[in-house]
Amino acid sequence: MAKYTCPQCGEQIETAGIVTVCPQCHADMSAVVEAAGHALRQRAAELIRDDSVTTHEYIVRTRGLTKIYKMGDVEVPALRGVDLDIRRGEYLSIMGPSGSGKSTLFNLVGGLDKPTSGSCYINETDMAQLSAHELAWQRCHTIGYIFQTFNLIPVMTALENVTLPMIFAGMSSDEMLERGRMLLELVGLGGRLHHKPHELSGGQQQRVAVARALANSPAIILADEPTGNLDLHTGKEIIELLKELNVESGVTVISATHDLKMIDVSDRIVHIRDGRIERIDRREDIELEVGTMGGEETAV
Ligand SMILES: Nc1ncnc2c1ncn2[C@@H]1O[C@H](COP(=O)(O)OP(=O)(O)OP(=O)(O)O)[C@@H](O)[C@H]1O
Ligand SMILES: [Mg+2]
Repeated sequence: MAKYTCPQCGEQIETAGIVTVCPQCHADMSAVVEAAGHALRQRAAELIRDDSVTTHEYIVRTRGLTKIYKMGDVEVPALRGVDLDIRRGEYLSIMGPSGSGKSTLFNLVGGLDKPTSGSCYINETDMAQLSAHELAWQRCHTIGYIFQTFNLIPVMTALENVTLPMIFAGMSSDEMLERGRMLLELVGLGGRLHHKPHELSGGQQQRVAVARALANSPAIILADEPTGNLDLHTGKEIIELLKELNVESGVTVISATHDLKMIDVSDRIVHIRDGRIERIDRREDIELEVGTMGGEETAV
């Protein structure tokens, strides 16, 4: 439940939903709601920020990362030697046509699959050198995953979905419930704690997935087409949420996407084609290009 005070008549409003005007005097409540949301996000940022990790300049480095899938006798090269350095706190989008290797790169960086050759370092640790136990620890504590199809557990409520990774991290149940509620409030779902995924809209399900990704204060959020199953407006809300988390908590966001709306929030855009990096754009350069085109909002 969120509590707001009407700036005009002082009415105390307690609601699990959205309030735009005061039910008593009809004053505009948007500034109050926005300010409360900001305070909540700042509180969350303090909880999410993980200062315990070592602070190397690059949080992810890949060298010659190659993946060849074997289909019987046929070899399918999905990544053909990717060298990529990702700075701590960066918002990086990976763009490219279908089949170019975005999800493959995502899976290798996230430790969900192993490369055929080459290396991926997270905080200067070579993922290939980790034991199965260490890799599981890394996945649980360092990385939060968001998928196109949300991948929530259908029989669990929003709160149970969000607290599940905390069980694996060994958190106490009181701490888990408090943090789970706080994270769901953070993504605007404080009034939907006990809803199951099928009782939520697509955008709300993806918000639960964002909250779940933040469960164990990850240093990295890996998002594979997080807006792929959402309409334009809902997709934009998810992008804005990820950007806010990136700016306010310093979490590194790496997102594979087809969504041109991501360009606005990305520090860099890595274009991949046929398993290779084609080029890397920095946002300043794109803004410059757009500027020289007379301010037209043209996607590059
Ligand atoms: N498990 C697999 N077995 C065999 N081939 C695969 C496998 N996964 C992906 N591939 C192939 O690897 C290439 C890269 O696939 P990937 O899923 O990384 O592309 P993508 O850029 O994520 O595409 P999309 O935008 O459609 O999600 C494709 O040619 C694909 O067919
Ligand atoms: Mg993909």
